[in-house]
Amino acid sequence: MSLDVERIRKDFPIFEREVNGHPLVYLDSANTSQKPVQVLDVMRAHQERYNGNVSRSVHTLGTESTEAYEGARARIATFIGAASPDEVVFTKNSTEAINLAAYSLGQMLRLGPGDEVVISEMEHHSNLVPWQLLCERTGATLKWFGITDDGRLDESALDDLVSERTKIVSLVHMSNVLGTVNDVSRIAARSKAVGALLMLDCSQSVPHLPISVGSLGADLIAFTGHKMLGPTGIGVLWGRFDLLSQMPPFLAGGSMIETVTMGGTTFAAPPARFEAGTPPITEAIGLGAAVDYLTGLGMEAIHEHEQAITRYALDALSSVPDVRIFGPATIEGRGGTVSFGVDGVHPHDVGQILDALGVEVRVGHHCARPVCSRFSVPAMTRASFYLYTTTAEIDALARGLDQVRKVFG
Ligand SMILES: Cc1ncc(COP(=O)(O)O)c(C=O)c1O
Repeated sequence: MSLDVERIRKDFPIFEREVNGHPLVYLDSANTSQKPVQVLDVMRAHQERYNGNVSRSVHTLGTESTEAYEGARARIATFIGAASPDEVVFTKNSTEAINLAAYSLGQMLRLGPGDEVVISEMEHHSNLVPWQLLCERTGATLKWFGITDDGRLDESALDDLVSERTKIVSLVHMSNVLGTVNDVSRIAARSKAVGALLMLDCSQSVPHLPISVGSLGADLIAFTGHKMLGPTGIGVLWGRFDLLSQMPPFLAGGSMIETVTMGGTTFAAPPARFEAGTPPITEAIGLGAAVDYLTGLGMEAIHEHEQAITRYALDALSSVPDVRIFGPATIEGRGGTVSFGVDGVHPHDVGQILDALGVEVRVGHHCARPVCSRFSVPAMTRASFYLYTTTAEIDALARGLDQVRKVFG
């Protein structure tokens, strides 16, 4: 069933506003998405009507708050096809989820010299720097898959890269720069064969694609609430329960313990083991509401809409002279994030002219400097789409780029 985008847009109050005298054209959802009233209302109701701390109060407000918090966890678990809500660990964002995994797996596996961790050149810094630090701390070696000229993961050296020495493979599922959706099935099979754990950074895929952790082949995934209609301050680490059960804690404090004496501490079972301190309660409840909203529309329908918009955008952008698209040229194996350059114009100038026309895109290195280096540019301009994006907005982008070309001759 196709999306009724005009009706959907009415759920997002922000689309009523103008930017610099023009209707808002928001093409930066890969950076952060907008929020529907259904999410905003649920968060406000929590603060106004039943705010209380979770998992520690016997009073009514605490109980209601705990039920809403755990209810959100259960719905998020269903959304990603997890075997149980206990496989869903709330974190602050994807970055914290990946840092948690890097720290805890490093300890669990007693990573050291001779061990290898494999990532790719396509990573967001969030799935690169934590592994660099882990390798620096432990003496393990970091290796990576390259990127092909058409913006896909270069798997040609798979068997060399992922070997008996490999302990962890951590890859981006959908690139936040190139839009590439990595089919990780071969890498998952190889990782399993050599006994390495596979983590996927699903920050850009969970918001846009139907995802079932059962069929991904990963042991752990990370994603972040604010890119999927939820608030900032909430993210998720999903892990197989048997794996989470073996992982030591990352942060320590209240809520994550089983018993504490002055002589030592034992730790709660997952997910509590990894949720030290008062968690982002309202934010988790907001993410639960976002998942309800996405589920109501259907992830298949959302994906179909974005495929149509992306096809339209790829056509529109490739017909603007002097525009070079980075990443896959067709919609096969790619999502609704399109990065490009305009010959002879710095991306910051492109972004400024577009902003003057109300068109909001992101410019810069997109927290993925190695991707820019791979394509020999210091920065890129990126337009990214979501369930509320219209073809009229893509037309506004294309008109804006004509304006850029006029201004810069
Ligand atoms: C692929 C990818 N990974 C990780 C992140 C980090 O997300 P957060 O800043 O919410 O932790 C982002 C955000 O842009 C991303 O696109």
